[in-house]
Amino acid sequence: MHHTWKTDTRPSDITPEAVWRERRRFLRQAALAPLALGVMSRAGAASNDAPSGPVLAARKNARWSVDDPPNSWRDITTYNNFYEFGTGKGDPARYADKLRLTPWTVRVDGAVRRPLTLDIDALRKLAPQEERIYRLRCVEAWSMVIPWIGYPLAQLLKQAEPTEDARYAVFTSVVQADVMPGVQEGILDWPYVEGLRLDEAMHPLTLLTFGLYGHELPAQDGAPMRVIIPWKYGFKSGKSLVRIHLQATQPTTSWMRAAPQEYGFYANVNPAVPHPRWSQATERRIGSGFFAARIPTLPFNGYAQDVAGLYQGMDLVRNF
Ligand code: MTE
Repeated sequence: MHHTWKTDTRPSDITPEAVWRERRRFLRQAALAPLALGVMSRAGAASNDAPSGPVLAARKNARWSVDDPPNSWRDITTYNNFYEFGTGKGDPARYADKLRLTPWTVRVDGAVRRPLTLDIDALRKLAPQEERIYRLRCVEAWSMVIPWIGYPLAQLLKQAEPTEDARYAVFTSVVQADVMPGVQEGILDWPYVEGLRLDEAMHPLTLLTFGLYGHELPAQDGAPMRVIIPWKYGFKSGKSLVRIHLQATQPTTSWMRAAPQEYGFYANVNPAVPHPRWSQATERRIGSGFFAARIPTLPFNGYAQDVAGLYQGMDLVRNF
């Protein structure tokens, strides 16, 4: 799969949230006429809902984008999982602005011929930034649609020249204990560690992510750099990364260590395999309204055509 890009990015190439928001508001009003007043006054009052922060220009990549309307900036930046800052959905938005983002370097090491230590500015410029609208399906059975900005992780990994021993990639998130209430409480074993098989890490859908809605990532969404693997449950997509280590053996991730019977290494979105404590057959789309029906969860979160081949011959019930 390859793409040719015609021109330099113009601001008009980036999905403006206002356009989507207007459309969604209209649809919601039509569907929920008796409730329209309440819905409108809430949306209308929220003048701080506009995307903000440093601008990050990107070209829209339609091949790797879904058509579902994206969630609002507000949904994406106030309903988060980032346990370093606490387990409440509002905790990351409340506390993550204390995260120190400069200086920030990321190390790529392990089974590579060229270990790299790169500053975040160099990382942002390493490859052309693309906007990709992805579904994000959380293991807690809610979902969002997010216009991420980034480039394939493969672009970075290739620069480090993986050796024959590189079969897994391990992602380590930052620890700044003094500004992270969740780290002080010891909810998980810190740092937050996640991992992928190398072919998953090199897949063109796996996005090294620096922004959303035309701006650099807000801290609560994993600033300054995270990874996004759209066909897996959201917990695989580690935030605020400081290290990517390639190795021969499958790592034990933070969630596997905390609850091995509940969170497997693969964590591919799979409606046929329930979590031990709840079904994964359907999901609640955040922002769709109180009365909205749950929607069916798709195998591999709707990306089966692109990724099912990675798991040919594997038992996906045992390898959950
Ligand atoms: N990364 C770190 N470092 N810590 C976390 O607690 N939570 C994960 C993932 N990455 C998490 C993390 C989970 S469970 C989800 S669903 C997504 O981040 C949520 O990303 P979002 O808040 O940007 O939607």
